[in-house]
Amino acid sequence: FQKKTLTGKKVLITAGPTFEAIDPVRGITNHSSGKMGFAIARAAVEAGAQVHLIAGPCDLTTPLEATGKITRSNVRSAKEMHAATLNGSDCDIFFAVAAVADWGIAKPAQEKIKRQDKSAPSIEFIANPDILLDVAKTVKMKAGKPHPYCVGFAAESSDLEKHVQEKRKRKGIPMVVGNIGPETFGSDLNQLLVIDETGSKKIAKAQKLQLARQLIALVAKKI
Ligand code: C5P
Repeated sequence: FQKKTLTGKKVLITAGPTFEAIDPVRGITNHSSGKMGFAIARAAVEAGAQVHLIAGPCDLTTPLEATGKITRSNVRSAKEMHAATLNGSDCDIFFAVAAVADWGIAKPAQEKIKRQDKSAPSIEFIANPDILLDVAKTVKMKAGKPHPYCVGFAAESSDLEKHVQEKRKRKGIPMVVGNIGPETFGSDLNQLLVIDETGSKKIAKAQKLQLARQLIALVAKKI
C-alpha cells in the first residue's frame, strides 16, 4: 500500500526505447522494454499524482488507466519524444526513464533502400536533442526548490557510480538513478543506485514496481 505522498502533483515520465527510421521498413532501436518507466508511472498514480506518460514503441499497457489519473502519448523517434515532452513539461516532477537514441538518421530514405549486389549503403547519423537537458533548462526555483524536480536514469556497462555522478553534473539535475546491471533491460527485476545532493544510496534488488514505489517515496520528500 502506497502513501498518498503525491496528491495534487503532476508527474511527467518518458519510458521505453525510441526508434530511428532508416527507410520505411528499417530502423535503429535498443533493448529498453519500458518496464521501469511504466512501473514508476503506476507508483506515481498510486501515490495520488496526475501522470502523463510519454512512451516510445513498447508493448506495455497503460497502468491504472481506469483511475483517470494517467494519460499517455505514444511516440516513435527521439525527435517526437522531445516535442511531446517539452510540450507537456509543465509538471512538478519529471522522470526521464526512456532510453533515447543518441543519434538519429540524417536523411531517412522515403522509399525502401534496395539491396545491391556487393555494396552496402552507408548511413549518416546526426545527434538527437537531449530531452532531459532541455527540460532541465526550464527549471525555476519555487519556494527554494527546483521545479520541476528532474530525475535522470543511467544504464552503463562499467563505472556506474562515476557515470551517474557525471550525468548529474552535466545535466544540472538534482537526482540520477543508475541501473545496477547486468540484467536490467527487459527484466522484471532491477537494482538501483540513487545519487542526489546528499550522496548515494542503493535500493536492493527487487521487482521494478517495488523499486518504483521506493523511488517515488524518496522523490516525494524532495518536493
Ligand atoms: O548520459 P545520457 O545523456 O545518456 O543520460 C541518460 C539520461 O538522459 C536518461 O535519463 C535519459 O532518459 C535522458 N536522455 C534524454 N534525451 C536524450 C538522451 C538521454 O532525455 N537524447
